[in-house]
Amino acid sequence: MQIINSIADLRSYLSSEQEPFKLGLVPTMGALHDGHMSLVSKAVNQNDITVVSIFVNPTQFNNSDDLDKYPRTLEADINLLNKISEDIIVFAPKATEIYPKGLYSNSYDFDGLDKVMEGAFREGHYNGVGTIVEILLNIIEPNKAYFGEKDFQQLQIIRNLVAKQNIPVEIIGCSIVREPNGLARSSRNERLSSEMREKASFIYKTLQISKKKFENMSANKVLKWGKKQFEEHADFELEYLCIADAATLEVVSRKKPNAKYILFIAVYAEDIRLIDNIALN
Ligand code: PAF
Repeated sequence: MQIINSIADLRSYLSSEQEPFKLGLVPTMGALHDGHMSLVSKAVNQNDITVVSIFVNPTQFNNSDDLDKYPRTLEADINLLNKISEDIIVFAPKATEIYPKGLYSNSYDFDGLDKVMEGAFREGHYNGVGTIVEILLNIIEPNKAYFGEKDFQQLQIIRNLVAKQNIPVEIIGCSIVREPNGLARSSRNERLSSEMREKASFIYKTLQISKKKFENMSANKVLKWGKKQFEEHADFELEYLCIADAATLEVVSRKKPNAKYILFIAVYAEDIRLIDNIALN
C-alpha cells in the first residue's frame, strides 16, 4: 500500500505508472466503515488503480465542535483498506497541502440543489464539499469517482458540479450500506452508545413503513405520520423529514405522475446528527 501525503508525490507516482490505465477515486474523510469499503471494492473492481483520499475537510463543517470531534483513525483505516487490496494508494494530505494559501470555499450555483435539507440546515456545507471535491478531481484526474447514496443530496450536487465545470469524470453512486438492524453505516455511529445504536434502528424502520404508506397515501399524510412517530419517541429529535423529487431535489407535498421520490431524514440521537433516505417509488 502506498501512503502519499503530498500532491507532487502523488502526481509523480501516477505518472510513473504505465499508461493507459483506468483510475478510480474514492474521496473520504476517513473513519472508514463498511459503507466506504463497498465504494472502495467497487472502485478496485472497475479500475486498474484506485486512490482513496483521506482528508477531513475543514471547509465543509459549519460547526467547529463537529470538526473537532470528527474521528481521525488513519492507522485503522489503512489496515481496513489493506484487507481489500494492497495496491490501493492512500492520499492523506494535510490541510496546508490542500489549502496552501489558507482555507476557502468557492461559491457555486448548484441550481437550487443545495437550498434544501442538508444545505438549508448546514450553511456553506455544500460549497465546502464542492470545493474539496473539485480540488481532488483536478489533482488526481480519475476516470471514475465514487460517492455513497446515504448523502444523496451530495451525490446530485457533485454530478451538477462536474457537468458545469466540464470535469471529465464519471460519478458513480453506490447504495447505502446498513448495520444488521438497518441503521445506515456512518462514521458518526461510533459516537452513539451501544444502547442508542440499537434503538436507532427506529429511523430506518420508520422510513420503510413510510414507503409502504406512500403507495396509497398522499405525500403530506405520509410526512405527517412520520413526523408524529418522532414526536412520540423521546430518544430522537427530528431536524427534517422531507419528500423530494429525486432529480431536482425539489421538496414536495403532492405527488406528480411519473416523478421519482425520495424520503430524506436528519435526526439527532444523543446529540449526534444522523441522516438517511429511502426511495419511495
Ligand atoms: O462524503 C464525504 O465523506 C465528504 O463529504 C467528501 C465527499 C469526502 C468530501 O470531503
